[in-house]
Amino acid sequence: MKLIISETINDSSELVAQKIISLVNSTKNPLLGLVTGGTVVPLYANLVKNYEQGKVSFSEIRTVNLDEYVGLDQKDHQSFAFFMNQHLFNKTNFNSSNIFLVDGTGQINSELERFDNFLTNNIIDLQLLGIGTNGHIGFNEPSSTFILPPHLVSLAQETINSNSHFFSEGEVMPTQAITMGIRDIMRAREVVLLAFGKAKANVIHRLFTETCVDPNLPCSILKLRDQVTIYIDRELATETGIEDCLSFTK
Ligand code: GLP
Repeated sequence: MKLIISETINDSSELVAQKIISLVNSTKNPLLGLVTGGTVVPLYANLVKNYEQGKVSFSEIRTVNLDEYVGLDQKDHQSFAFFMNQHLFNKTNFNSSNIFLVDGTGQINSELERFDNFLTNNIIDLQLLGIGTNGHIGFNEPSSTFILPPHLVSLAQETINSNSHFFSEGEVMPTQAITMGIRDIMRAREVVLLAFGKAKANVIHRLFTETCVDPNLPCSILKLRDQVTIYIDRELATETGIEDCLSFTK
């Protein structure tokens, strides 16, 4: 795993945006694995800015998102589909026929089958990941095993606590989601994980210092593959003391 520390969240987001733009400009119809969450809002804003300046076109790009809450449809402001439309798809020229999103209101088994078919027939060129404070990637929650294919998951209490701030009073946060499993995250040609701020310090410290691959820390599976780059900001780096306990490529 390569670690890249930038001074600010915007600097990290700029580096990742440039990486995506160079993939988009050099590969025919690449498949981007996309993620939601507060962490990637500045990244998507940066991509939108580059699109508006004519530096990139997304019309030929295919996308697949990591996960979706069960029970929320695409028009629900809390759905991940809504997030993607709001922050990226509706502000750029992504072609809706090239976008794969899980339907949170679909029949669960058929959505899982549709997701699995898509992922077994397509290889992700670049998978973006955030990380939960409990080490989840996508919604692969800490567990006694790694689950490989797309699956239905009951969200961990820590995830519910962390993500509930996105929901206003009166809105009920779903407790289940459909997520890409570990198999397809590991099959992606390249993985980029972003983590910013003090809240992620503990989990990033664990990721770099624990010496085992443990399904109770789902992100630890990334240690088993190459082409993984982790982008963090200075605040997180300082909080973890990560520069003192690691040798890494800057
Ligand atoms: C959700 C998503 C994860 C993402 C996480 C990070 O839980 N399922 O894929 O990594 O949010 O959220 P944030 O960026 O808001 O910290």
